[in-house]
Amino acid sequence: MTVYFNGSYIDKADVSISPDDRGFVFGDGVYEVARAEDGALFQLDAHRRRLARSLEAIRIHDVDPDALWERVRGLLPRNGLDAGPAKVYLQVTRGAAPRQHAFPDASTEPTVYARASAHEPPLARWRNGVKVILRPDQRWDRCDIKSLNYLPNVLANQAAQEAGAYEALLVRDGFVTEGSHSSVAAVFDGTVTVHPFTNRTLPGITREVVLELCEDLGRPVETFPVAVDALPDADELFLMGTTTGVMPIVQVDDWTVGDGTPGPVAQELLAAFRALEPA
Ligand code: PDD
Repeated sequence: MTVYFNGSYIDKADVSISPDDRGFVFGDGVYEVARAEDGALFQLDAHRRRLARSLEAIRIHDVDPDALWERVRGLLPRNGLDAGPAKVYLQVTRGAAPRQHAFPDASTEPTVYARASAHEPPLARWRNGVKVILRPDQRWDRCDIKSLNYLPNVLANQAAQEAGAYEALLVRDGFVTEGSHSSVAAVFDGTVTVHPFTNRTLPGITREVVLELCEDLGRPVETFPVAVDALPDADELFLMGTTTGVMPIVQVDDWTVGDGTPGPVAQELLAAFRALEPA
């Protein structure tokens, strides 16, 4: 596999990262995951903007996010991924330096790593819907930054997997924020309800795309946090994410959503989502 590492395309086996890298030691970095089709990235501008915003938020300045995305896109043909669905992973850390909590010397170069791989669209899950579990949201107060610090997400997702579920919906102060690796929407009387963009959720790019599709389809949208107690009143629930797409939820813990099959709003949005071209 050819990957991008600190300015060059090299074989993955030749990547060498210092044990002093602050991504390894502190999780001191940010990342992006984007989807591609036939060699073109989806939502490139939105990923560009979000990476720039994350870098700015944690004060890594020595990276040109625009040039970087061009290099990331270049991974697709180099890995035989210029036909069909693929995904890319990109991460930037504050670089390698002797361990101290405060930022290292200004001459420390960020570590940049990106790879591309094939992506299998989750067709069966889209068709049948998925189970989710509810877990406490134990994350920090800047969930709007796509930082590498995903330990609470990892633990919540592991709990989901052990419960035979696809995702964990995170609950903070009685309200559902998002999933461990996806955004969430509830449908009440035909209106799609999503969490507002605050410090408590990631500004999900698929969520934005879905809200635009709602507008195109004339479907009403409301933006407010859904109380966990109101979840059983929802006609439909669904997840949104780069690799998740629009994923109907048919079960939450031990109760069934609606009649236990993917609802019409999620199905309509999924069909519209699947028809989108890379842009
Ligand atoms: N996860 N919320 C969280 C906490 C996420 O980690 C993600 C993405 C999303 C959805 O964002 P987007 O639509 O931009 O993918 C929401 C990525 C895909 C991951 O960690 O693999």
